[in-house]
Amino acid sequence: MSSVLLRATTAHAAWLEQIHALAFSADDAWDAEVFATQLDLPGMFGLIAEDQGFVLTRVAADEAEILTICVAPAARRQGAARKLLAGAEKIASAWGATSMFLEVSTYNYAAFDLYKNAGYERVGLRKRYYSDGSDGVILRKII
Ligand SMILES: CC(C)(COP(=O)(O)OP(=O)(O)OC[C@H]1O[C@@H](n2cnc3c(N)ncnc32)[C@H](O)[C@@H]1OP(=O)(O)O)[C@@H](O)C(=O)NCCC(=O)NCCS
Repeated sequence: MSSVLLRATTAHAAWLEQIHALAFSADDAWDAEVFATQLDLPGMFGLIAEDQGFVLTRVAADEAEILTICVAPAARRQGAARKLLAGAEKIASAWGATSMFLEVSTYNYAAFDLYKNAGYERVGLRKRYYSDGSDGVILRKII
């Protein structure tokens, strides 16, 4: 597997849909059209760890947000998400962001560990934010 991160373009939209569908439940599926539209928006960028997963990030002024990050089940626990997160922080910072935000379900222990170990701290809570009834925890890292 390659260790290089690629910039996602609209040409990757179908692949992004496939990986997203492997990582999230059908209720949370995003289709290729959604990805293509998102990637065309100003301030948006995506990074791909080839054959593994991707991250989609939005930058607005000095704040950035991870919209989604996912890794195919067969490629997990090999450091892909850690690398994608670090890559997204680096680009967001180069684009002028000083903080990175994201939201995670209280039930998502894997993602919580990933973010905690990457230096993210809890700054807010949205009660029963997710369809499964779990709360959404807002995390932030100064980048
Ligand atoms: C969360 C997710 C992106 C992690 O991807 P990954 O490539 O397997 O993560 P990494 O290999 O980079 O792991 C980095 C660190 O995250 C933590 N972590 C990752 N998966 C974990 C798990 N299943 N259990 C506990 N900690 C976990 C660990 O601290 C890990 O470091 P370590 O392997 O040295 O212990 C992946 O499990 C996924 O796609 N899940 C479904 C989609 C999702 O929930 N996205 C996040 C939405 S907020």
